[in-house]
Amino acid sequence: MIETIILSDNPVCIGRGSFAGVYLVSAKLWVFKVVQNAQDAAAISHEYDACRTLFQCCNNNSFFAVPRALALNVPRIDDTCATFLMPPQLSPRLQASRRPIRHIVREGEFSPFDKAAYALDRVHDLPTGVKAYLRQCYFPSSVTVGPSLCRLYFGKEVPISTQPPRFINSQNFPLDVRRYEALFEKFPEDLDPVEKVAEGMGEMLGRIHAWASYDGRDIEFVLGGNGFSSFSFWVIDFNQMRKWTKQDSDIETLTSAFFSNDPYYPRPRSSDALYATFKTGYLSAFSGDLVPWGNAFLAAIEDEASSGFSYSNSGFSSALGFDRHGWFPGYRGANASPAPLYCTTLLVPVGISQEFGLEQLQDDSQATFGTDLHGTIVR
Ligand SMILES: Nc1ncnc2c1ncn2[C@@H]1O[C@H](COP(=O)(O)OP(=O)(O)O)[C@@H](O)[C@H]1O
Ligand SMILES: [Mg+2]
Repeated sequence: MIETIILSDNPVCIGRGSFAGVYLVSAKLWVFKVVQNAQDAAAISHEYDACRTLFQCCNNNSFFAVPRALALNVPRIDDTCATFLMPPQLSPRLQASRRPIRHIVREGEFSPFDKAAYALDRVHDLPTGVKAYLRQCYFPSSVTVGPSLCRLYFGKEVPISTQPPRFINSQNFPLDVRRYEALFEKFPEDLDPVEKVAEGMGEMLGRIHAWASYDGRDIEFVLGGNGFSSFSFWVIDFNQMRKWTKQDSDIETLTSAFFSNDPYYPRPRSSDALYATFKTGYLSAFSGDLVPWGNAFLAAIEDEASSGFSYSNSGFSSALGFDRHGWFPGYRGANASPAPLYCTTLLVPVGISQEFGLEQLQDDSQATFGTDLHGTIVR
């Protein structure tokens, strides 16, 4: 039976990282990214600027889309000034015939939030049929929600397990190459081959480096829906990116940003066909005087990867994914390391929390457990 409900205007949290929560008001085309800590107002303003720059410099005809930053709101705290910014819009009078959509998010929309926030394009949830397929393949049958988005982890292999995983992240599902290829086989009309996606990652990272002069630290490459029955590819999460100024020492900055990211990029091994397409995409952003920078960066990551050092000291080895027993690395036992940031939407088996120190996790990442959108307990 289909229930009739009245849609609420209350924001719902649809995602959370260490830095911010992401909120949706039903039927809106945008989300709010709201800092967890009121002191981080400057950092969200920095992200708003970075997101605007990337949209302007890097979004044109790229494989991965950059969300638009639609408005920034910083409420007054103590003796600081309140700020509200909205990018200028073309007047509808300047457009011919049909009234164009004005991408406006007014100040009043931010009233539910007492902390600094910005509004940006929403990455829509994966289509219903895709969610159902992923749940059927990878989730225990008791889980009936999610996943909302997939993270494209082409630098990591999620081990094949015969046991259903004991932790599920129903917000962001990790798709490694094998899982992506299986999804592509299932939805060939709507997805692109894995090589094309890897090339698109390279293209976007190259543009971020060469065209926007940011290091790309901590950006996420995700697969979502398009609001209809198909997919969309996005790059999101820009708060940790820093500018680089084309000094020789910056190659080190770019390399460390590359290895500290979650394992999105194909591993930089010259024998790896997927890395070859990533590289082609990356270099497509470099021309003229910039070419030596592109080549120097690629040489540096290949060098570092061949030494093996980066993989044992970076997100490539420790980021989200299940090990062969279905556990998050770092969560085995009372002395578990501090909560990784991506654990905010875990589905946790009953009885596990004490043994694995999940209270600590809940404190650290303000994880949401319970029976809400992404916190159902696996029984
Ligand atoms: N534009 C968006 N549309 C939909 N969901 C989003 C969007 N941006 C982020 N999210 C979700 O919210 C989560 C947290 O956002 P993120 O930007 O990664 O925060 P943080 O900076 O704290 O890491 C993401 O992993 C993703 O699941
Ligand atoms: Mg994040």
